[in-house]
Amino acid sequence: MSVTFPIQKHPLCGTIEVPGDKSISHRAVMLGSLAKGTTKIENFLDGEDCLHTVDAFRKLGVSIEQDGTNVIITSDGFKAFQEPKEPLYFGNSGTTARLMLGILSGLPFHTVVWGDPHLTVRPMDRVVLPLRKMGAQIDGRGHGSYLPLAIRGKTLKGIDYELPVKSAQVKSAILLAGLFAEGTTRVKERSKTRDHTENMLRAFGADINVMGNEIAITKRQELTAVDVTVPGDISSAAFFIVAATIVPHSEVTLLHVGLNETRTGIIDVLKEMGADISVTNVRTSGGEKLGDITVRHSALKAVTIEGDMIPRLIDEIPIIALLATQAEGKTVIKDAEELRVKETDRIHAVVEVLTTLGAHIEEKDDGMIIYGKTPLKGGAIKSYSDHRMAMLGAISSLITSGPVTIDDVSSINISYPTFFEHLGQISRTNYQ
Ligand code: S3P
Repeated sequence: MSVTFPIQKHPLCGTIEVPGDKSISHRAVMLGSLAKGTTKIENFLDGEDCLHTVDAFRKLGVSIEQDGTNVIITSDGFKAFQEPKEPLYFGNSGTTARLMLGILSGLPFHTVVWGDPHLTVRPMDRVVLPLRKMGAQIDGRGHGSYLPLAIRGKTLKGIDYELPVKSAQVKSAILLAGLFAEGTTRVKERSKTRDHTENMLRAFGADINVMGNEIAITKRQELTAVDVTVPGDISSAAFFIVAATIVPHSEVTLLHVGLNETRTGIIDVLKEMGADISVTNVRTSGGEKLGDITVRHSALKAVTIEGDMIPRLIDEIPIIALLATQAEGKTVIKDAEELRVKETDRIHAVVEVLTTLGAHIEEKDDGMIIYGKTPLKGGAIKSYSDHRMAMLGAISSLITSGPVTIDDVSSINISYPTFFEHLGQISRTNYQ
């Protein structure tokens, strides 16, 4: 169902606690299920993607009680997992699909996995090929390149693997398979991607070593349960960070946001653009840094975003593109070809949406060029069933001269179920 966002006149002000980090919530359920004992997760992201991970482990026989953002996992460890009686459905969740392939490859039974039409066209061969090198038996559409896939668990062996793509999901799938593999599994990445899997494996007692961009993991008979408090998701905070920067007279504070350096590219880029952003109350919990972020409206200048910076803000690029329309000069985003295989082709989708709203933006194979500063107008845009595109549309409406209509915003429940409540709170508008 389409939704129309009226012209917004108020500055944004107030304090928000964004929901738990999606990447960390998935991993907490995975490792809590693999470990022997009881794992309590606080501030779990109660969004559709993470609920598919919960459901998958329930089907493997793990007891998981979930009450909103509190989760209690009671497991006898991965050796007690049972062959699922039905296929595991992962919905839209690429993280569930790729990481579960790593886990299921080393478990002694047969599993079939599938997803929604968007996940079904996303590449899985990037995970399947290295897992096959470890001895995994995976088959399915396109010689195992796309869901649905069938996995017959095997005895795995460690490999040395240099990642051809900058992907934390691929790295994580191999490391998780490495937990079950004979010997040591080594993964090398050219650009450092998010390292939540490494941090959490260490916390759960895995034998893991990180040396710069190289990670080694050695087989473990058992993981030990530990409690996890999930920090707020910087990828969700990003929408309000950008909103407060571009809406005149705004000041917004975001509490308890994860500040892992593999994820804070958006803060570095905003500072370089001249934004008024500060981070306070920095602390560490469960191996992850977190703190509070305060942002005020400010004038911006264009920048170039490329190379090793890209994995540090890959999910924030759609909303950074909106930010760039309000910066003086030419913002170049390159080396970001991975955006083409996200929930949708986010290079094409961002260019389409922002062009409809009056931006001057050019599509490139590996990114985009945005010419600012441009006033934006209203219009009818598509979300491409992509949560981050739908939120980009909603935030755009805060600065457009006319109303913005989005074809469907239901995908926002994937990562930020309380998005409209929070947006309403800081803009003094009722979005319900
Ligand atoms: C994620 C890794 C990234 C990111 C995704 C979550 C993860 O994907 O875009 O939203 O939790 O590991 P890639 O590994 O495909 O870059």
